[in-house]
Amino acid sequence: MLERTGALPDAVVACAGGGSNAIGTFAEYLLGMEDGEQYAGNDNVRLIGVEPAGEGLDADKHGAPLNKGVVGILHGSCSYALLKDGEILHPHSVSAGLDYPGIGPEHSYLKDTGRAAYPAVTDAEALDAFRMLSRYEGIIPALESSHALAYALKLAQQCEETGEEMNILVTLSGRGDKDVDYVRRIQGDLAAEDPATHPVVNLNIEGVLAEMTAESNAREGL
Ligand SMILES: Cc1ncc(COP(=O)(O)O)c(C=O)c1O
Repeated sequence: MLERTGALPDAVVACAGGGSNAIGTFAEYLLGMEDGEQYAGNDNVRLIGVEPAGEGLDADKHGAPLNKGVVGILHGSCSYALLKDGEILHPHSVSAGLDYPGIGPEHSYLKDTGRAAYPAVTDAEALDAFRMLSRYEGIIPALESSHALAYALKLAQQCEETGEEMNILVTLSGRGDKDVDYVRRIQGDLAAEDPATHPVVNLNIEGVLAEMTAESNAREGL
C-alpha cells in the first residue's frame, strides 16, 4: 500500500469466520507491546471484519456471533458465540470457511472497545461480489474472501455518493477455484451473466450441498 499509494490504507477489510485471517490483517495497525517495546500501530486506519449474514441477520441462518451472538465459552475461551441456553447453535453461510458459531476473543475485545467494526454481508451479496471480481478482474476470490469484497464494494459505493476519497485494502484470503463448481450449481445459468444486471436471487444452497455431498459419497463408495 505504501509503495502503491504512498500512504497507509484508510480502511482494511477482511472476512471473519473464526477470525485468524482478519486478526492477521489487522495486526500491523494495532497498538501493542512486545518485550517492553510498543508497536507502532495506527489508530487512523479503520479496521473492518466482515461476518457472514447468510440468509439475513434476522433469519437465524447466519454465522455472525459478533452481530447476533452472546458472550459465552466455546473451545475454552470466553468470546462472542452463537449460543442459546448454553448450547452452541448451528451456524450457516454459503462459504464453508465462515460457517462457524464463534470468533476469536481478540475480535470480541476489538468490537467492545470500538477499535474494529464488524458489519455482515449476506450469501447473495457475497455471491455477487464473487462473480464481479471474477468477471471484471479475472481474479476468482474464495467465497469467504468474497464477503470482504462485498463490503468493500458497499464502502466504495458510499464514497462515490459522498465524494469521499478512500483507499481500501481488501484481504483476499484464498482462491475461489475451489468454489467454482459450487457457485455454478447455486446460480445455474445466471453464473455466466453480468452481476450488475443479473444479481443472484432464489438461492438453493441446501439443495446444492445435499447434491454435492451425495455425489462425493458415491465417489468414495460411502
Ligand atoms: C479462504 C478462506 N478465507 C477465510 C477463512 C476464514 O478464516 P478465519 O476462520 O480465520 O476467519 C477461511 C476458513 O476456512 C478460508 O478457507
